This record gives sequence, structure tokens and C-alpha cells, in this order.
Amino acid sequence: MSMKVVEKIDDMKRLRQQLTEPVGFVPTMGYLHEGHLALIRWARTENPSLVVSLFVNPTQFDPQEDFSQYPRDPERDFGLLEKERADIVFMPSVDEMYPPRFNSWVEVGRLTERLEGASRPGHFRGVTTVVAKLFNIIQPTRAYFGQKDAQQVVVIKKMVAELNMNLEIVTVPTMREGDGLAMSSRNTYLNPEEREVATVLYQAISLAQKLWVRGETNAQVIRQQMLTLIRKEPLAAIDYISIADTETLDELDTVKSPALVSLAVKIGNTRLIDNVVLE
Ligand code: PAJ
Repeated sequence: MSMKVVEKIDDMKRLRQQLTEPVGFVPTMGYLHEGHLALIRWARTENPSLVVSLFVNPTQFDPQEDFSQYPRDPERDFGLLEKERADIVFMPSVDEMYPPRFNSWVEVGRLTERLEGASRPGHFRGVTTVVAKLFNIIQPTRAYFGQKDAQQVVVIKKMVAELNMNLEIVTVPTMREGDGLAMSSRNTYLNPEEREVATVLYQAISLAQKLWVRGETNAQVIRQQMLTLIRKEPLAAIDYISIADTETLDELDTVKSPALVSLAVKIGNTRLIDNVVLE
């Protein structure tokens, strides 16, 4: 079967009936890079059928945020997805997903008030709403998410469990550039100088990992060392540095295994995130 590009929800639902079970699904906002492709390849090996969505979801961007500037290149994405042997690419318009007077939302509490949620109010409401809609439309057996967005995985798993959604969530490790920078569509915003400075996120999580391996269990000591490292870069502005419980996302005083070390740093005008799990 050759790859089909589908723009309408009704067509997607109809084609879904013809797919061989189990069906793997990778939701993306497009402008695909090796991080996305890692999820897609993982899903491809585990499922006879593979659906990938390309949808830049307006409801998860802040009003002042970069929705209109978010990079898009569907033709290039189609070429990459054809190579990965995707069966269906679902690429709805904003109007198809959010018709006029759309007013139903899926909201996960508490977890979404921390970290990314604290810095980006409403962000996770947009993510959970669009992901719930995509799950209902595509009815996947398994859906694949990157550890790069660690809180997103925790929030989606909570939604799936508490709303009794009938699918499995699979987490795929973070793909990195040679110098450790986590791959992200937003990396394209960085100028050459900022691109060099951006490695400080990876340096900071590597430092946390090193301190933990050496026996440091005082979370505040680790946070402070990360802070000191990043503050040496004049182009870097820290949004948050967190060491938290991997399930509740509560901040820890004493590090225990597993713990989620995560951070958000603005490099120039570009906000980057990264994380590592201490085990
Ligand atoms: P997007 O940023 O396009 O990412 C799509 C998926 O790719 C997410 O699960 C993300 O965690 C994963 N990903 C991104 N960079 C990665 C990397 N370097 N290594 C491994 N995985 C990586 O996340 C979203 O889109 C949206 O919020 C979405 C879930 C599609 C809902 O709109």
C-alpha cells in the first residue's frame, strides 16, 4: 500500500477501518527531524500499520508565542514519511480540528501547573485536547512520545489512565546532536553563536548526572551547581531548573531513584528544554 495523505477527519476514520491491527500512531507538529524519525521507526517496527499526524496545534501556543512562525515544510515531511513507509499521514487544517464555536477541552489537573505548565499557562490543555481528539479519530493500539518532552509524557499517561482510553503509550529516548543538544524544531531559530551556547542545557543535565553518580543526594546542591554553570553564559536566561519526582513532578529535597532533572532556558529569543532521569 502506498502512503496516503488525509486531510479530513471522516476520511481518516474510514481508512482506519481498513488498517491491519495493531496500529501505531506518532503525533507530531511536522518539520520532522531525527528525533521524530526515531519515534516513527520505533512505531514502524512494532506495528503492521503506521499513522503519523502533522498538525501545528494552535491551542497549545501562548497568544504571544510562535504559532504563526513555527517552521513548516509538509512536502519535505511527506518525502521522509514515504521513506519510513508510513501508511497514512493525517494532516488536518486548523478549521477541521477546531471548527467555529469549538468549546470542549480535556484538562489534566495539578501536574500541568508545574514546570512547563507554570511557564506556559494553557499549554497542556491544548496538548491534551488535541491528543485526545487525535486518539479518538485514529483509534491507535499504541502511540509514541519522546522523552525529550518528559512532562508531556507524564501528563498524557495520566490522561489515558484516568479517562480509561484504550491504548498503550510508548516512550522513546531523546535523540541528540553530536554535541549533546537535544534535537528540536526550535533549534532552527538559533543563530550560529546561540547554537554554540545552546549546548549548556546538555552540559547542565550531564553535570547533574555526574554529581548523582558521585553520591550527591542533596537536590538543592545539584540545582545550584547547574545554575552556576548556566549563569556563566551571558546569552542564556534560566526559566526553571527542577529535580522532581518522576510521577507527581513534586520538587525533591533529597534525590531518590528515579528522579527527573529538567530545565528550560532561553537562548536569545528561543526557549529550549531538556531533561535526564537519574536512576
Ligand atoms: P512535536 O514537538 O512535533 O514533537 C512530536 C514528538 O516528537 C513528541 O512526542 C516529542 O517528544 C518527540 N520529539 C521531539 N524531539 C525529540 C527528540 N530530540 N528525541 C526524541 N523525541 C523527540 O510534541 C509535540 O509535537 C506536540 O505537543 C504534539 C504531541 C504533537 C501535540 O500537538
